[in-house]
Amino acid sequence: MVKVTYIKNGQPIEIETDSTGQSLLEVAQENAVEMDSACGGNGVCTTCLIKVIEGTDSLGAVTEKEEIMGMDPTNPEYRLGCQCSVNGDCCVELAY
Ligand code: FES
Repeated sequence: MVKVTYIKNGQPIEIETDSTGQSLLEVAQENAVEMDSACGGNGVCTTCLIKVIEGTDSLGAVTEKEEIMGMDPTNPEYRLGCQCSVNGDCCVELAY
């Protein structure tokens, strides 16, 4: 099990999941955490933007779609929740 903490509107929401390899968006949706996803998780809208608070190394590598949307693979502080896979404990803050 891994622990994913989503911070939304300043409030932490802690989730325990064994769904490693899924995206932050998928884990959020499976656990009734409200995360915007205007493009349906296709990596083209940025409404699922998150800031990584803890656990940068627990998240999958920055994807090509994220790079196209301006994410910096050498400093992945901001990620797209729909493209970012969860592989370990992490804490992220939702932008919207
Ligand atoms: S849901 Fe649109 S970029 Fe992630």
